Amino acid sequence: MSKTLIVYGTRFGATEKSSEIIARELKEKFNHEVEVVKLSSETENHDFSSFDNIIIGSSVAYFSWTKRAKKYLQNDFSGKKVFVFVSSAGLTYPALEKGEMDKYAKRKKRFLDSIVKKNLKIQPTSTAVFGGWIKTRGKPGEFDLYNWKEEDMVKWSEEIGKLTG
Ligand SMILES: Cc1cc2nc3c(=O)[nH]c(=O)nc-3n(C[C@H](O)[C@H](O)[C@H](O)COP(=O)(O)O)c2cc1C
Repeated sequence: MSKTLIVYGTRFGATEKSSEIIARELKEKFNHEVEVVKLSSETENHDFSSFDNIIIGSSVAYFSWTKRAKKYLQNDFSGKKVFVFVSSAGLTYPALEKGEMDKYAKRKKRFLDSIVKKNLKIQPTSTAVFGGWIKTRGKPGEFDLYNWKEEDMVKWSEEIGKLTG
């Protein structure tokens, strides 16, 4: 049985929800044993040695990753498969949704590929860009922006399942 660790850094909750969907899909459809860890001062050095696959997710806001997700990328994951995703609801995902592929490529490079290249010592097996949300201030349940789509995580989980065997 494949053992998979999902670690994530979130600010507003979308990356957490995405991580939960991926965990559910890998457990139910691919029989992975999955642990999900929210990065915090207590968990930032969470031991990954017993896992075959590591999935790292980060919120993108203020043009940046969360500091702990970026730091987690810097671990030595030699011999493991690493998957990386971001929740970039304001810039990267909307370009993808609109089919503005040049813009999407540039933003993906800035907010995902270049961060991975600088911080991760090995090549990731696969990466993904997801949406998220921006809540309307003072109005619970209302959103200024909402482009989080469960089907995106379901699809990527299928890919992860096939790549991990
Ligand atoms: C204050 C603020 C700044 C943001 N800055 C960016 C940004 O620089 N780039 C982007 O793509 N999305 C940006 N967003 C949208 C986030 O990607 C979105 O809130 C997403 O859900 C963040 O992931 P999280 O919910 O896991 O924190 C911003 C949202 C807020 C509220």
